[in-house]
Amino acid sequence: MGKITAGLLCVAIMGSSGCVFDKDNKSANKTDTQLRELISDAGLTGNPAAGRDIASILDPKAQLGMQLFFSKALGGDQDSACVSCHHPALGGGDGLSLPLGVGADNTDLLGPGRERSGSVLPNVPRNAPTTFNIALWDQVLFHDGRVESLSKIPGKNGSAGAIRTPDSAPGTADSNAGANLTVAQSRFPVTSAAEMRGASFEFGNSNQTVRDHLAARLADTGAGSGELSTPDADGIAGDDWQAAFEEVYKGEADVANLISYARIADAIGAYENSQVFVDNPWKAYVEGDNSALSAAQKRGAMLFFRAADDGGAGCANCHRGDFFTDEKFHNIAMIQIGEGKGDGANNDDDFGRFRESKELKDKYAFRTPTLLNIEVTGPYGHAGAYNNLQDVIRHHLNPQNAIDDFFASALTWCHNIAQLSEVADCDALYTHAEDNTRSALTLLTDLQDKGLSKLQNISLDNAQVEDLVAFMQALTDPCVKSTSCIGQWIPDTSTTGAAGLQINAEDANMQPLLHN
Ligand code: HEC
Ligand code: HEC
Repeated sequence: MGKITAGLLCVAIMGSSGCVFDKDNKSANKTDTQLRELISDAGLTGNPAAGRDIASILDPKAQLGMQLFFSKALGGDQDSACVSCHHPALGGGDGLSLPLGVGADNTDLLGPGRERSGSVLPNVPRNAPTTFNIALWDQVLFHDGRVESLSKIPGKNGSAGAIRTPDSAPGTADSNAGANLTVAQSRFPVTSAAEMRGASFEFGNSNQTVRDHLAARLADTGAGSGELSTPDADGIAGDDWQAAFEEVYKGEADVANLISYARIADAIGAYENSQVFVDNPWKAYVEGDNSALSAAQKRGAMLFFRAADDGGAGCANCHRGDFFTDEKFHNIAMIQIGEGKGDGANNDDDFGRFRESKELKDKYAFRTPTLLNIEVTGPYGHAGAYNNLQDVIRHHLNPQNAIDDFFASALTWCHNIAQLSEVADCDALYTHAEDNTRSALTLLTDLQDKGLSKLQNISLDNAQVEDLVAFMQALTDPCVKSTSCIGQWIPDTSTTGAAGLQINAEDANMQPLLHN
């Protein structure tokens, strides 16, 4: 404790002028002095959750949200839940390059080995981001930011101003978005045919009709069209969810109208926003404990925060601040695989932020991801094309070389992607993957030539790349790797939940998913 206090005092008193640790702290050395100067210059506190009102997972609303998050009751055909792609034991994602949503052969099997109709081929075009620390985003959610705060001062988690969603036109507010970005987002997966809705449930009807029907299903009142509309035809009885909603929302509406999709989204949002995992070695270091990082992690941190012209890797140009993101969009020519979002000449490309903004500078630009807990949230990139952090770093340092390497042996790139490698003739999949990726590279090179990109080509040796990886591993909160700790965000697996629709996740060996 004495050591920590000494460090804090030093930062506070000496500020950016640097600080020489006193005799209390014999481990202080030149590296620490330099690193603390970078930390001070960047204005870091180490705690991205500071000043936020983070709900506990033990809060009844978060508990209700957890039940909903894990329940197939919200899947149109009752075969998919939020957790199908965002399991706490899989780093808040699904451990896959690209997700498999509805129609799984075994709905409880998550991660590698998950299949639809006997195939591991995904039916969703983008990598599932982690839900960990979702409460810390203030401006944009999704890889392309299609849920976003319209306010110049968005407030914590976008709670201060108007929120735009896919239900409203670009630049205009969705008046039903809810209290914050997380709640707004949770209104959409249930409307996606590939993720949760399925092909026939409320086919062709509006997003709100889908939501109303799901709420009516939980309340067992029956509403709207579709095969599951009559009470009890769906196996859900009126008392399966009613008591739980009454415990949290009693008094907000008369009992018969308590279960609405707005409240479902509100509760799911509370559960997700309780997933704050920021207690990592880096935070301890920034807060003053010089012994919290290894020598390699300190070297990696120096590279990370130093600008390229100062011998660094310039990572903090974009992965900025305590949350390691500027919440902005950049084209870094990340590898594009999968079925895409229907863009480009062959309808299998993904133009990223351009799809929303229609501005050329945003073509192939994706949101800068946070790097907290990055060790457990792979595969990486918006299409999950990279399995490890070394490859992601090399891509940033020289996209041209990385793309050449990735596609080096004509059409065998798929063998490097765990999820696809076992698919017979995977070479025949996604035949435009290379062309689409190279289109992004052409635009990136053009931006770089004009001095408009924050991504610079940088040459690092292997040892430096390993140092950067070591640094990023210091961003892991031990909770996310502990069965008992992360288990608080997983419902009791000795029950099957309301109407028996709870997903109790298992891996390809039929073993319970415990932690990453
Ligand atoms: C079939 C897989 C799948 C299911 C089921 C699913 N998601 Fe997702 N989720 C994704 C993918 C893929 C994305 C990224 C989509 C994009 O950016 O275009 C995403 C994005 C998100 C994000 C934004 C993350 C960020 O960093 O911006 C949140 C939050 C989220 N999902 C929560 C949920 C909730 C809540 C549910 C249930 C109501 C749900 N998801 C169901 C795959 C899934
Ligand atoms: C120009 C802005 C920019 C710079 C500079 C930058 N990044 Fe990134 N980084 C991004 C964007 C944008 C993505 C997501 C791209 C995508 O998926 O299409 C990303 C993705 C990543 C990922 C994968 C995250 C995930 O969840 O999939 C890692 C890891 C990463 N960056 C680390 C680094 C490191 C280390 C450096 C310094 C060597 C760095 N970045 C420099 C913008 C940047």
